[in-house]
Amino acid sequence: MLSRAVEFIMNVDLIYFSGTGNSYRILDTCKDILIQSGCKATLSSITEKSSINGNAHLVGFCFPVYAFGIPRICKKYLLSLPKVKHPINTFVLITAGDPDESGFSVNESTIILKNKGLNVTYSEVVHMPANWTVSMDPPSKEEAQTIINNGVTRAKKIAQDILNGRLHHHAFNYPSRYSKLGFYKEYYLFKWLGVSNLWRDFRTDGTCDSCGLCEKLCPTGSIHIVNEKPKWANTCEQCMRCVNYCPKQAIFQKGEGSIKGKNTYYEPTFKPMKIKNRKDKPMKIKNRKDNKANATDAKGRAADWRS
Ligand SMILES: Cc1cc2nc3c(=O)[nH]c(=O)nc-3n(C[C@H](O)[C@H](O)[C@H](O)COP(=O)(O)O)c2cc1C
Ligand code: SF4
Ligand code: SF4
Repeated sequence: MLSRAVEFIMNVDLIYFSGTGNSYRILDTCKDILIQSGCKATLSSITEKSSINGNAHLVGFCFPVYAFGIPRICKKYLLSLPKVKHPINTFVLITAGDPDESGFSVNESTIILKNKGLNVTYSEVVHMPANWTVSMDPPSKEEAQTIINNGVTRAKKIAQDILNGRLHHHAFNYPSRYSKLGFYKEYYLFKWLGVSNLWRDFRTDGTCDSCGLCEKLCPTGSIHIVNEKPKWANTCEQCMRCVNYCPKQAIFQKGEGSIKGKNTYYEPTFKPMKIKNRKDKPMKIKNRKDNKANATDAKGRAADWRS
């Protein structure tokens, strides 16, 4: 009698938010490793995908850290995910300009995901170039490339760890440049002021030539060219895409001064023009009919997709 071996193919759903490409690059690297290992993996931005794939055996998220937490849009996205009936193994990666300063970003994400019934088996912070150009000077192109290369190496290792069923949770640390009290003061000050309220302070200088690139690139549709100049809306997430891609370095924030003469930063393989922006729709998830493939072994590993 003929017997045919049925090979199990793991479906992986990878979801990111990225202003300047770091979080995209880290998850895209994981995608490559997963595909090389025989998985079927899809990568999407939260702006183009309204929910996770209910048939996925593994779901991975990657977000940047903004002021010691995850961006408002990422939190909103995670909160809008429906509760799953059967736990799906999930990992969370955070990209940070300074890995010592990731604050509560991992915890904020994992708490929400666990409340949604997802099984968070792996979380980590990955150092990538800092992109907050309005308030600091990002690394030079050469320095940035070295940081990216190290980040990519780290992401490959993380993807291998995940494939090997390794459990890992990033441990929270107080950023070393603050005292405990100093950190909480800064964290709550930012929370209270709201990083995303800084849209009010965006300005352009006289070199803006009304090219409209910022309007086209904004992941949240928060820029409109009015009377030949960009105007910002309160949906802005402070992702710094408009600031860093503006060919004239014309965008700055009131109180911070011009960015002219500073380095600008975006991850060179990131192609934001190709990403669709999602109109806000209610999030839906189809529950898997057969969730046996999500079963975990005694150590909480997703064992069956490797057999
Ligand atoms: C508004 C804002 C706030 C940020 N806050 C932090 C922070 O608290 N800690 C940190 O390490 N990096 C911080 N960064 C740097 C980004 O987290 C980092 O560059 C990230 O990799 C950017 O990811 P992206 O390219 O996917 O958008 C901040 C960047 C921005 C724009
Ligand atoms: S990208 Fe720069 S130059 Fe072009 S419209 Fe926007 S601010 Fe002006
Ligand atoms: S307006 Fe600029 S900073 Fe705000 S979300 Fe759009 S691209 Fe990002």
